[in-house]
Amino acid sequence: HPLWLIVPAAGQGKRMGADKPKQYLPLGEKPILAHTLSRLHRAFPAAHLVLCLDSDDRWFNPEWVPFAQWQRVTGGAERMDSVLNALHAINAQEDDMVMVHDVARPCVTSSDLLTLYHAAQQHPSGALLAMPVADTMKRANAEQLSAATESRDRLWHALTPQSFRYALLRRALEHAVTGQCVVTDEASAVEALGHAPRLISGRRDNLKVTHPDDLALAAAIMASQVAQASD
Ligand code: CTP
Ligand code: MG
Repeated sequence: HPLWLIVPAAGQGKRMGADKPKQYLPLGEKPILAHTLSRLHRAFPAAHLVLCLDSDDRWFNPEWVPFAQWQRVTGGAERMDSVLNALHAINAQEDDMVMVHDVARPCVTSSDLLTLYHAAQQHPSGALLAMPVADTMKRANAEQLSAATESRDRLWHALTPQSFRYALLRRALEHAVTGQCVVTDEASAVEALGHAPRLISGRRDNLKVTHPDDLALAAAIMASQVAQASD
């Protein structure tokens, strides 16, 4: 069965506040988008890439795509709309594997990608990279006073990629969109159908570049991964 890689890259990067969307900002010699695609390609050279781009995108360059098989689709208003557009655009079989990865996570490693892929193949409800919460978690009240402490025992940060069978993910995202429920990851949409995706403990350095100071952090992470050959 083929693997479909969906990379939502239609965001505006508002929190980054740069003069272009954050996926086009340079990290060393190439833009974030090019790093992310090259990491995915190294792990899954034969996959079919679906890249979600904004309809007004002026920065994308197809030279950054290392995949032999790929297509671009127009993004939607929210991340989930972009991913659903991708699912509707492809000619996939019900039980084909689909893996969704944020373009803004260029530090993902081959070993995490491959571990996640194998986990998703084994679990009918799919799987996602995640990491256990390390800090003590506070529940604030409306006045931003610390009203309670949540047990962090079973709390995880959700990362990407997240991977599911095509039919399940499509049904889940269609359900979320129809119910006008904005989900910020695929797993929440799948959970809403009563499925429990498997949490796969991923590396802590799979950072989502979000704020301006994340750029230097991502560059340092990539340099250290290359030095340790763990990229
Ligand atoms: N994304 C997308 N379509 C949207 C919104 C987001 O494809 N309508 C993508 C982004 O490009 C990113 C991923 O979803 O790869 C995660 O979103 P986020 O980190 O929030 O990126 P942005 O929405 O670009 O950033 P911001 O929220 O700060 O504007
Ligand atoms: Mg966003």
